[in-house]
Amino acid sequence: MGIKEEIDKLTADLKVYQDKYYKEGISLISDSEYDRLSDRLSELEKAHPELMHPDSPTKRIGSDLTNDFPEVRHTIPVLSLDKAYSGEAVSEFFSRSIAKEGGSLSFAAEEKIDGISMVLYYEDGILVRAVTRGNGIIGNDVTSNIMTIHSVPLSIPEKIDIAVRGEVYISKEGFRKFNEAETDDAKKAANPRNLAAGAVRRQKSIEASQVPLDIFCYEGFWGDKAQTPADHLHILSKLKEFGFRINPHLAFFDSTKELAAEKLKNAGLEGEAYAFSDISEFVKEKTAERGSLGYEIDGLVFKINELDVRDRFGYTEHHPRWAIAYKFESPQAEAKLLGITVQVGRTGRITPVAEISPTKLGGSTIRRATLHNQEYIDELELAIGDTVSISKRGDVIPAVENVIEKNDEGNTTYRIPPACPCCGTELVQIGGLQYCPEYTCPDQVKGRISFFASSDQMDIDTLGPKTVEVLYEAGLLRSIEDIYTADFTKAAGLPGMGEKSISLLIKGVEESRNRPYAVVLSSLGVADIGKKSAELLSSNGFGSIDRILEVSDSGDTSALTAIPSIGEVTAESIIEAFRSPRLRRTIEVLKEHGLHLDSSMDEEEEKADQVLSGQVWCITGSFDNFNPRSLALKEIEKRGGRTVSSVTSKTTHLLAGKGGGSKRAEAERLGVTIVDEEEFLQIIGEKQAGSSSEDAQLTLF
Ligand code: IVH
Repeated sequence: MGIKEEIDKLTADLKVYQDKYYKEGISLISDSEYDRLSDRLSELEKAHPELMHPDSPTKRIGSDLTNDFPEVRHTIPVLSLDKAYSGEAVSEFFSRSIAKEGGSLSFAAEEKIDGISMVLYYEDGILVRAVTRGNGIIGNDVTSNIMTIHSVPLSIPEKIDIAVRGEVYISKEGFRKFNEAETDDAKKAANPRNLAAGAVRRQKSIEASQVPLDIFCYEGFWGDKAQTPADHLHILSKLKEFGFRINPHLAFFDSTKELAAEKLKNAGLEGEAYAFSDISEFVKEKTAERGSLGYEIDGLVFKINELDVRDRFGYTEHHPRWAIAYKFESPQAEAKLLGITVQVGRTGRITPVAEISPTKLGGSTIRRATLHNQEYIDELELAIGDTVSISKRGDVIPAVENVIEKNDEGNTTYRIPPACPCCGTELVQIGGLQYCPEYTCPDQVKGRISFFASSDQMDIDTLGPKTVEVLYEAGLLRSIEDIYTADFTKAAGLPGMGEKSISLLIKGVEESRNRPYAVVLSSLGVADIGKKSAELLSSNGFGSIDRILEVSDSGDTSALTAIPSIGEVTAESIIEAFRSPRLRRTIEVLKEHGLHLDSSMDEEEEKADQVLSGQVWCITGSFDNFNPRSLALKEIEKRGGRTVSSVTSKTTHLLAGKGGGSKRAEAERLGVTIVDEEEFLQIIGEKQAGSSSEDAQLTLF
């Protein structure tokens, strides 16, 4: 067999295998055999690109070539939809349209999929371009990413020119699984739509191929008008026949239910048939059922079925006059995008933030919302002056969801300026994100210190971002290690730095020295070493920082990649990070100051600590050394004791401070051991027996 014949045969065979597998769930050959054939075809195609079929099944795999999504002009108008917010408004649209046409009309009702709008262009039956909606006239060419979606036909049985509109989306299940597998919290997507939007614009299609994208197609525009079917139902039926994925939840409205059922049947489609008078009930029902679907929808779309009527009704600049979208109520508000500010995070990562006109939503006034990164801005095609819809994700974090109306000032999609807004250094681009590369950039330094001290990390609650800012400006705190070397008494007189605050700050810093190794490790702010990976490292042969430094020196990734869930890329990035002289200096100073940079330091303490194990403690009254009182509870729990809120027969000890009445009485009645503050300090080893309570304070703080 010649090369051409082999390519032709492999292409045809693999297509059959793919179709069977993805459309019917049937494997005709084993996975390994399939991979072998597919690899062979890829190899031949690489050597003989001129012989590659434009709809080759290898396009599904994706590639690691960088995509730059060129702008292309749509050849059909890609419009949006007019909106209705009640069943009555949809009903009015029905009667308005019927009155205008003066003849019989019917309407298709479809789910409004909450995804990414896409136009698939076929020429001579071959998929040549997949283009985002863009501004409706020009969109981005994302073909190689869309080709990885198995339900997008790479070719269709008729050699025609056709444009097909559809919605790319991710099922709830697919989203859940994908996000669960993502270990880096920062990379988790907020919702299926965001994940889909990001995947559609992944720079490497091999990465897009790993995201469980799917598509529902809902409109077809034939290049040759004469071939266009007569109505929407027949368009859907034809699209289905061509192999496009059509949403099976189709409903159809006519003057009577019977007529509607008949038209569905004539087009060879399954669907629910309704009379016009059912509309309010229908909207109510579908609204109630929306949560039970396997994918997210944000409304329903009602479309006139007859294409000649569609032509007569025509379009406004923004939407067709022959369709309307019923939008589900969601707590969203409209706002104007006044500006975009750019923030610099502790890693240097640049985050654009939307400054919006003050907008009331869900009980609070919103003025700002994160825009995540340039990609997110590009996905929304967001420009200053645009009117946007704002939602509260998970009811807390405000997000810019969509552009409702473009600005009329001629502003185009916002671009993050090329220099760091804090230190002016030129930004660098890493994997779709921008970073300020200057380690000493003040915002980064402050961010690193605040992160180190934050409640999730070293938990120095007296060193919050505001205090960090004040101390940084005064030159007292310019690095993580300064936390342990600075003379904070010099902060006296600075804003918010009274005598009391300073002593609390010093106390907080002192206490933080005892944090376990894994916490210190993750607090250093090294990329890829979050809390989970720090634990993982600690319990897999990297129980001391010296071991990490050793591996970093040697450059050998194998000891790291031996740990489950650490891959080559992460291993390399860890090795690289620990080579930084600055980080090494930080580690050196922290070590000198007794921080746990070895997990053996944690263990010693834990062993000595478990003196209350098996005991059940309740507390009452107030304390000199434990204010708030919960600090005493923490001490008990740290030592293996259990704490309860009331005295029962199971309670073994009552820690009784000043005051406190009924619990003490109950303890006495039940014969529970009553311990006062002084005795407690002795028990937990914070005070030598017989010393005064001032001494106790000194040893404690
Ligand atoms: S029809 C000219 N049908 O909703 C025809 N759109 O808010 C206009 N959408 O841009 C589109 N599901 O991306 C249509 N079944 C459906 C849809 C649908 C989702 C999206 C589409 C459109 C947006 C309008």
